[in-house]
Amino acid sequence: LRRRLLAAGLTLSSGALGLPLGGCASVASQRAASVHASRLRAAEGRAALVGDLAPPTAVWHYEGAVPGPLLRLPQGGVLAATLDNALPEPTTIHWHGIRLPNAMDGVPGLTQRPVAPGERFDYRFAAPDAGTYWYHPHLSTPEQVDRGLHGVLIVDEADPPAVDRERIWLLDDWRLDRQARIVEDFLDFRDVSHAGRIGNTITINGRLADREPVRPGERLRLRLVNAANARIFGLRFEGLAPWLITLDGQPLPAARPLGQDEPLLIGPGMRADLIVDIPRAGERWQVLDVSQRNRAWRLVDLVAEGGAPALQGAGSARAGGRHDAPAPIAPNPHTEPELRDPLRVSLHFGGGMMGRGLPPDTAQARAARRQRRLEGHRAPDPAWSVNGHAHLEHGAGHPFEFLAERGRTVLLQLHNDTAWWHPIHLHGHSWRELARDGRPVPDRPWRDTSLMAPGERLEVAFVADNPGDWLLHCHVLEHHAGGMGTQFRVR
Ligand code: C2O
Ligand code: CU
Repeated sequence: LRRRLLAAGLTLSSGALGLPLGGCASVASQRAASVHASRLRAAEGRAALVGDLAPPTAVWHYEGAVPGPLLRLPQGGVLAATLDNALPEPTTIHWHGIRLPNAMDGVPGLTQRPVAPGERFDYRFAAPDAGTYWYHPHLSTPEQVDRGLHGVLIVDEADPPAVDRERIWLLDDWRLDRQARIVEDFLDFRDVSHAGRIGNTITINGRLADREPVRPGERLRLRLVNAANARIFGLRFEGLAPWLITLDGQPLPAARPLGQDEPLLIGPGMRADLIVDIPRAGERWQVLDVSQRNRAWRLVDLVAEGGAPALQGAGSARAGGRHDAPAPIAPNPHTEPELRDPLRVSLHFGGGMMGRGLPPDTAQARAARRQRRLEGHRAPDPAWSVNGHAHLEHGAGHPFEFLAERGRTVLLQLHNDTAWWHPIHLHGHSWRELARDGRPVPDRPWRDTSLMAPGERLEVAFVADNPGDWLLHCHVLEHHAGGMGTQFRVR
C-alpha cells in the first residue's frame, strides 16, 4: 500500500494527526492515517476541448487542466487540499458525496466564507467511505462548474475487485459556439425554468469523445462521473454485458448485470462504477447515449487495439457463457436507518415550466433580489420551490427545513410535482433509496444523489449522524440557482 502511495507522489507523512471529528473519525483511525496533500489553484486558462477542430477554449480550471487533477487516497486516508483562488471572483470547493466534517463542505454562507480572489483555504478531512467522488465549486455554481472547474476524487477500497485496468470517465457537456467558445448565457431563464443548461458538445475527461483503445479479453473497471450542469446521460453498451458494482461510490450488495436494452441513467452529480468485460472476438463496441428520445448519440467507441489479449484474464469468459460475476465490494460503514420511529419529513418539489407551486413573487422577494444583484451575486428569478420556498440564499436567509437530533433516522418523502427530471443531492450523508411510487427499490442502494422522474415520489432514509448545517438540492445547477433546494441542521 505504502509503495502505491509513494508512486502516486502524494504521501507527505503519516502518524499522529488531528483527524477531523464527526462520524468519520472512527473509521479513519482504524487505518494508518496517511495524508494526501494537493494544491488546487483555480485560475483562468485554455483547454483543447475539441482537439484541433478549433482554437483552445477559454475555461476556468484547477491546476491548469480540465478536468482538474485526479485526487486519490485510500479509504480512511486524509485529504489535505489547498484551494488557491486565482479567479476573478470568489469560490469554494465542495467534495461531492464525501461524509466530511461540516466546516469542510464548501458551502458559502452556510459552512464557510467565500474564498476571495488571491486568498487560500485549506481543506482537510478523512474519507470514511471508499468509492468514486468528485469536487467542484459551490459558489456561482452553474457558471463556475460549467467553465471547467471540477475533478474526480477516488477513495480506494482496501480490497478492490480484480480487474486488468481501470478507466475513469468524467462526462461533461458544453455549450460552445462555432469557434468552440463557451456561450456565456449562464442562468438564461429558459434554461433555469426548463431542463437546465444543456450543451451541444459532449466531452469525456475534457476531450471530445471519439475512441478508447481496449484489449480483447480484458476486464475493465469503468468509473463514471457526470459533471454536466444539466444533462442526464442514458448509456447503452452495444454488444457488451457490463456489471454495475457501485452507485455514487457505494457498493451494491451484489454486482448487477446491466440489461441490453436498459440504459444506465446517470444524472448530474451522480456516479456509477461498472465492470466491463471486453470480448476476445470483435473489434469495436459502441457506447451510446440514449437519453434523448428518438435519438441515440454515439458517445465513444471502444476499439480493440492490436497485440495479445490480456494475460491476467481476471474476467476470462467461460466458454460460451457470460463472464463470471465480479466479487462484491465490502460495504462502506454507514449506519443502518432505524425505521420504527423515524423523523418524517415531506419535501414537495414544485415550479418549473408548466408547473405548479412557483413561490409567490412578493415585493419583498424582488427587493431582496435587487439587493443581491447590487452586491454582485448572479441570481436568477425564482423558478422552483421546495415546500413552497425558493432557496436563493444559503444560511441565515433561508429557514431550516428540519432539525434532526444527532443519530436520529430521517425518513424523507420526496415528491417531484413538476414536469421535469431532477437529481436530488444530499450533503454530508448518504441515504438509502427505499421506495419509488410505493414500490420497493431493489437492493435499497445508498446514494447521495437520486434521480427523480416527473411526477415521481421517492422515499429515502438516512441516519443524521453528521452534525452541522447541510444542503439538499437539485443538482441540475440551474434548478438549484432558481430555488430548488433547502437546508437542514443536525445537532
Ligand atoms: Cu455536487 Cu451541493 O453539490
Ligand atoms: Cu432539478
